[in-house]
Amino acid sequence: MASVNPLDVAAAQGTIGLHLLVEEVDKLVSLPDIYYRLEELIVDPNSTTDSIADLLRSDPDLCARMLRMANSAFYSFPTRIESIERAVSTIGLRQIRELVLVTAVIQAFEGIPSAKVNMASFWEHSVAVAIMSREIGQSAGIPGAQHYYIPGLLHDLGRLVMYLKLPGLMIELLEKRDTSGIAMEQLEHEILSYSHADIGGCLLEFWKLPQSIWEPVAMHHNPANSGEFMLTAGAIHIADAWVNANHSGSSGSRFDLEIDPEALELVGVDMEAVEKAARVAAEQTQAVVRQFMGH
Ligand SMILES: [Fe+2]
Ligand SMILES: [Fe+2]
Repeated sequence: MASVNPLDVAAAQGTIGLHLLVEEVDKLVSLPDIYYRLEELIVDPNSTTDSIADLLRSDPDLCARMLRMANSAFYSFPTRIESIERAVSTIGLRQIRELVLVTAVIQAFEGIPSAKVNMASFWEHSVAVAIMSREIGQSAGIPGAQHYYIPGLLHDLGRLVMYLKLPGLMIELLEKRDTSGIAMEQLEHEILSYSHADIGGCLLEFWKLPQSIWEPVAMHHNPANSGEFMLTAGAIHIADAWVNANHSGSSGSRFDLEIDPEALELVGVDMEAVEKAARVAAEQTQAVVRQFMGH
């Protein structure tokens, strides 16, 4: 292998464990303190809307991005949200926490050299899956499905980790994918003995995010073996397979992933509902990606 990156070499030899890789990533990319301070304020019975708004205002860049996101097609709040105070008082703490999380994760991975990965394409894939997962969950009438877009958005975060920490291996795997036609996930397993799904799930757990986020990320290629959050993993799996098959952006999986019929049954949707969700995603994805990428 041409790369001299020691992690790449270890990965190619199958000697880099999942947890070691995630710890390496955490040295480089982590969630900002403000996310954890916000978590503390949310559970503190003495905190007020003002104290939460004050905390958020201490990071003007984050505030600007949050407001842009809050006013994007992703949320469709009934009125325009002009200020952080207004956001905190009108959209609810869970949504605020999710907004901060999404904004912070995107910000955290912005430093990846663009030669290594097409970020616009990566986020296009992720946003399309996020919107579709939420629509699928909602059309199945699953309570809480409006929150599916968070794990949907982060489902392939492990791929960004791979582009960042194992760039040589990624080049090798992508070439192999193109010459052999074998699915990327399978190639990852063959070499690393784990996949990007395991990496993403492990990193999000390491960052102490809720299980409702890390479990479906870890299980999005294998929803039937998921635990408590099987329905979320199932909805993301369906959305991911559809988006890959229809080439709406890419995170590295080129060959069509088939929708597992078991996943349709598990989630309780038919192909008509999937296509309807896909239409919503197609309408909204480009505009949301522009908000994400900051232009
Ligand atoms: Fe994936
Ligand atoms: Fe994906």
